[in-house]
Amino acid sequence: MEVKRININDLTPGMLVADNVYNSANQLIVPRDVVLTDKAITRMRFHSISSARVYVSDENASPKPASAAAGKEAREVSFFEKLRGTEEFIAFNQDFEKSIPVFEQKLTAMLKGSADPDNDTLTGMVDDMFHSCRTGIQLFNLLHCMRNFDDVTFSHSINVSLICGVLGTWLGRDKAEIEVLMQCGIYHDVGKLLIPKAILDKPGKLSPEEYALIKTHTTQGYNVLKDRKLPREVKLAAMMHHERCDGSGYPMGLKGNQIEECAKILAIADVYEAMTSPRVYRKALCPFEVIHLFEVDGLSLFDPVYLLPFMENITQSYVGNQVRLSDGTIGQIIFINKLAYSRPVIKMNGDEYVDLSKESGRTIMEIL
Ligand SMILES: [Fe+2]
Repeated sequence: MEVKRININDLTPGMLVADNVYNSANQLIVPRDVVLTDKAITRMRFHSISSARVYVSDENASPKPASAAAGKEAREVSFFEKLRGTEEFIAFNQDFEKSIPVFEQKLTAMLKGSADPDNDTLTGMVDDMFHSCRTGIQLFNLLHCMRNFDDVTFSHSINVSLICGVLGTWLGRDKAEIEVLMQCGIYHDVGKLLIPKAILDKPGKLSPEEYALIKTHTTQGYNVLKDRKLPREVKLAAMMHHERCDGSGYPMGLKGNQIEECAKILAIADVYEAMTSPRVYRKALCPFEVIHLFEVDGLSLFDPVYLLPFMENITQSYVGNQVRLSDGTIGQIIFINKLAYSRPVIKMNGDEYVDLSKESGRTIMEIL
């Protein structure tokens, strides 16, 4: 079988990993000879890994349908499938689709000249979507139902901006501070528009020079924004949103308090968005799977001051919901365990209570 380096966007569950996959701090993220799962691909995204070497044959090069567990799931309509049919989602989705070409036009125009960006139009659009939602978690749920947009940069920026707004609310920030955080989301990846698309979307192996060039979207973004009429935090967030608290990030390898607060908050929103956005070959991950990844890998990378309230608010909002566990059984979330947010206490059918934090085998796979 041939071995090929495949871009993260083209990796699919079922592919066999040919080489150990490490992150930039040299930690082993996926060992060789392991069959890729949604979780493994998501874990790679979490660590900003751009590609992996996999065995390729006709059989495993083509995307496999949904997840392996999907067979069991098909009978019942999930929480998100129901939400997708509501008027609220249809209206939100229409606003979202209308905003993408506007973002493209306004951000591209900003790059071409030295004028200030049309900030009022851009913030107005995300503000309208933000305030059309009853609660923060409802906004997360609506984003969870979105289709996979072809233009990743603009839809990603809108999503991250909205998630920043919700996180700012959960952190108790005032209106003006939330607005700044949302602007950080709008402009954080503007430097990517200056990286050749052929490199950003390159399916094959990135050379060290190409990877180094992609990393410059942070400094290039800062340079584009630094003389424009925008808040200082927006400029610094563009520069620092890939820095990590343990010093493993880029472009400067800053640690802990060297990283601006707005960039730390944005980093959580950025990674959460990348993990929960649906892909052509799979559904968006269940929020509890994503929270589990943050618990395993996130506490050294992200500031717990912002990460813990984020995990607490997301998980608390599903208390009372029916869920399907990884063994196919169904129960109701009763109590969130603050030492293991992704592993709550579940009341099973038949009045049995199961504390998932005391079980290593079963996890929450779907909210019903
Ligand atoms: Fe970025």
